[in-house]
Amino acid sequence: MKVTVEAPASSANLGPGFDVFALALDRPRDRITLSSESAQRLSVDIEHLGDVRTPTAATKNGAGAVCLAIARDFGIKKRIGIGITKGIPIGLGMGSSGASAAAAAFGMNELFGLGMSGDDMIFYSGKGEQVTSGAAHYDNVAASVLGGFVVVRVDDRPSAIRYDPPGEMTLVLVTPVLELPGRKTEYTRSVLPKMIDLNMMVSNVANASLVVSGFARGDIGLIGMGMKDRVVEEARKKLIPGYDSVKKYAMEAGAAGVCISGAGPSMLAILDRSKHDPRSVMDNMVAGFGEEAVESDGFVTKVGEGAARV
Ligand code: HSE
Repeated sequence: MKVTVEAPASSANLGPGFDVFALALDRPRDRITLSSESAQRLSVDIEHLGDVRTPTAATKNGAGAVCLAIARDFGIKKRIGIGITKGIPIGLGMGSSGASAAAAAFGMNELFGLGMSGDDMIFYSGKGEQVTSGAAHYDNVAASVLGGFVVVRVDDRPSAIRYDPPGEMTLVLVTPVLELPGRKTEYTRSVLPKMIDLNMMVSNVANASLVVSGFARGDIGLIGMGMKDRVVEEARKKLIPGYDSVKKYAMEAGAAGVCISGAGPSMLAILDRSKHDPRSVMDNMVAGFGEEAVESDGFVTKVGEGAARV
């Protein structure tokens, strides 16, 4: 028995929605092939099918941890093989680990006909994030499972709401070439404040509400207006030379909103392609990094669909 699944990259937070909001990117994607053979007991073997390596011990690999957790909970005693082809660069703020985890959860559901809901798959995908980034945050994995724009809430378990994007909404991702710490997401979470001022909370709730209202109304301007964060980006922007210029120049070229993509260092701009040229936005963002003598590289994409069999 064998299934092959692809899951998309994602951009988390959108400014004020730390650990709550994420967008699925149409590309790039990770691909996972899962196979199962009869066995006396559960085992999970990992094979890398492309050039990019992730840990090969199942308990240390995000996709491996997801498969183990699902197999244990559903009483599956098989020899499970995971073939991983990483299409999403690791550690750049595009939900690379989340995509592999989501593909693994989706693939297990397909392979063994488990009847899991989207929220169940998001819950198990979080087990992968726990392994790779030290915290089971669900924003990236929710976007990689469901596609579109997602809002996640965690009570005992996570649950997510998906919105379709406005039709003309276009995304520009620009990644600076920087020396990054090992276990980057864990590090960039460690620099965040533990307590915040009440006025910052009010500002973030207002901006987050604008983002959701924008998706509910299909209004790109409203989404962009809400992409302002006074808590997490204030702490993280020090790690991204050129942050202020990148934002300013992207807006000058017609971006509706700009923010750090996930835990960074990539930056995300959104725009209405019927009104502005995504290439100009991208060139301006690259110029913003250039002012700090930081090289960068970008691409244009749109909001994509979630995990699917290929
Ligand atoms: N919400 C998470 C963070 C996303 O910002 O740390 C990590 O990709």
